[in-house]
Amino acid sequence: MKSRLKVFVTLLLSSFIASQSHSADDSKQLSVTEETFRCLSELAATGRFFVGNILGNLDDTLAVANSENGGSFPPGSLVTLVPVEAMIKHEEGWNPATNDWEFFLLDVSEEGSRIAARGGAEVVNQAGSCFGCHQLARPEWDLVCGENHGCAPLPFSLEQIRDVQKSDPRCMRKD
Ligand code: HEC
Repeated sequence: MKSRLKVFVTLLLSSFIASQSHSADDSKQLSVTEETFRCLSELAATGRFFVGNILGNLDDTLAVANSENGGSFPPGSLVTLVPVEAMIKHEEGWNPATNDWEFFLLDVSEEGSRIAARGGAEVVNQAGSCFGCHQLARPEWDLVCGENHGCAPLPFSLEQIRDVQKSDPRCMRKD
């Protein structure tokens, strides 16, 4: 009985690990925790969305985000449009299928962020797979949809997006 339980737990754990690691090369994975995701106003505003760089290379991230003809975001880039969703670029080779972007779905509150889902093409919100929509951006835009990079538009006006950005509950944190 005991050993069958052990086999069961081992199988459960290995399928969990397999679903976590998908095709990613873990040596290229940057460390991302719930603390990585903070109030949007702590990030740099660029056009419609906000950016940061968890490796400290904000200048190169901003240069691509503000470029008129796109480019490849450097490792460490964090991009976010609304508090509950973000993309982070790992080191080159982490997951070539997603240009090394990892997608995050967050639960946010005055206490901070909780990671509800993270990974590659398997991460979904109510409208579908993050990657499914973002891969429609033309190649020079590195999976960033923006207003007119080739993705189908979201059913929200810029004004509605701005309202959601302004009401990020994480900005009420005391620390
Ligand atoms: C139905 C298609 C669709 C789905 C599903 C989707 N997105 Fe997006 N996303 C868009 C579009 C279109 C924009 C650009 C919106 C704008 O600026 O008006 C966008 C914007 C963004 C941005 C800002 C940078 C950019 O690409 O413009 C981030 C970051 C982002 N989405 C992350 C995510 C994450 C993470 C998920 C999954 C949890 C997700 N998205 C799911 C279509 C989608």
